[in-house]
Amino acid sequence: MNRSKQSSLPINDQFDPTRISLRLSVTEKCQLRCCYCMPEPVRHDDNSLPPLSKEEIRQVIGSLQSYYRISKLQLTGGDPLVRADLGEIIKSLSCEQIPDISLTTNGQALKQWAKRLQESGLNRMNISLDSIDRDRFRRITKTGDLHKTIEGIEAAIEQKMQPVKLNTVVMRGVNEEEIADIADFGLSRGCQVRFLELMPIGAASRRFETLYVSSSEVKTRLSREFHFSPLPDSPASSSVNYTVVSKTGLTGVIGFISPYSAPFCSRCNRLRLTSSGRFVGCLKLGNSIDIRSILESESPSTDRLIVEAAKKVLSQKQNAAVSSNTSSFQSKEIMAAIGG
Ligand code: 5AD
Ligand code: SF4
Repeated sequence: MNRSKQSSLPINDQFDPTRISLRLSVTEKCQLRCCYCMPEPVRHDDNSLPPLSKEEIRQVIGSLQSYYRISKLQLTGGDPLVRADLGEIIKSLSCEQIPDISLTTNGQALKQWAKRLQESGLNRMNISLDSIDRDRFRRITKTGDLHKTIEGIEAAIEQKMQPVKLNTVVMRGVNEEEIADIADFGLSRGCQVRFLELMPIGAASRRFETLYVSSSEVKTRLSREFHFSPLPDSPASSSVNYTVVSKTGLTGVIGFISPYSAPFCSRCNRLRLTSSGRFVGCLKLGNSIDIRSILESESPSTDRLIVEAAKKVLSQKQNAAVSSNTSSFQSKEIMAAIGG
């Protein structure tokens, strides 16, 4: 055995290479133009590909399951709710023995969708909420209506999508003064509130130095209002969670997602599938493999070829994670294209 080669492989006792968490982007389209994601209208080239069909998505999941156990499936975008057949996609995936199917949305169209999503078999929802001030929400999202997102959050709660998680990207000089109010807003409705560090990708890469606020700073600020008690880490979870009690007696869970200051590469088993059919291993490496041609070939080896492609992007990142485990982001794409 080549010892020197062996020692360069990731060492992680909890790591099970046959268990993956899949982030599936069902569309690049979004009603909003968040300042850190895609503030300008997105130009779709003439040759830009349509998103994978419901059948193609089902095929990829089935092929992956011939080798992997998918412990978690997160539907993302863009905003998944712009896709008219989303309910059917979820219905077809909910027959696939995946224990946890969730969705990330900006909530703009959620009021109309919540009941259908619940009936289709969706377990959970993450809703982006970067401000609870109407004008600031509009400035951050350009075209967003805070009232619609709040109605969406209420509809998700009504459908018992527990826990409803609210995600706030904290930005210097933009919404940093609002974090305690956002936490109050979420906790008082029984939602978990998660504060995300900005990542230097998409539009955020241009103004990153000015806008970035670390999770530790956010937690320190919140500690003036909340008492934090750590919750045990769940393996491969991207957030560090705490139970909190506020000075006013509110209780609940607050989490921090710190892709920049505390990258979780070494325990990351996340595979992304873009809406146009590329597996992406890692936002930092930006490594990807196109599987569309495999799907289109309808060959009897489809399962094997898709599993091989997944193994390749995952091993590229797992090997890179050992040496770099850094905060450098090489992906040149916006989150809406990769899947937020
Ligand atoms: N940094 C951090 N989060 C981002 N998102 C999009 N772009 C970025 C970025 N540059 C998040 C959104 C939303 C999800 C779709 O991705 O806030 O929660
Ligand atoms: Fe905002 Fe998410 Fe839409 Fe990007 S995909 S513009 S982050 S809501």
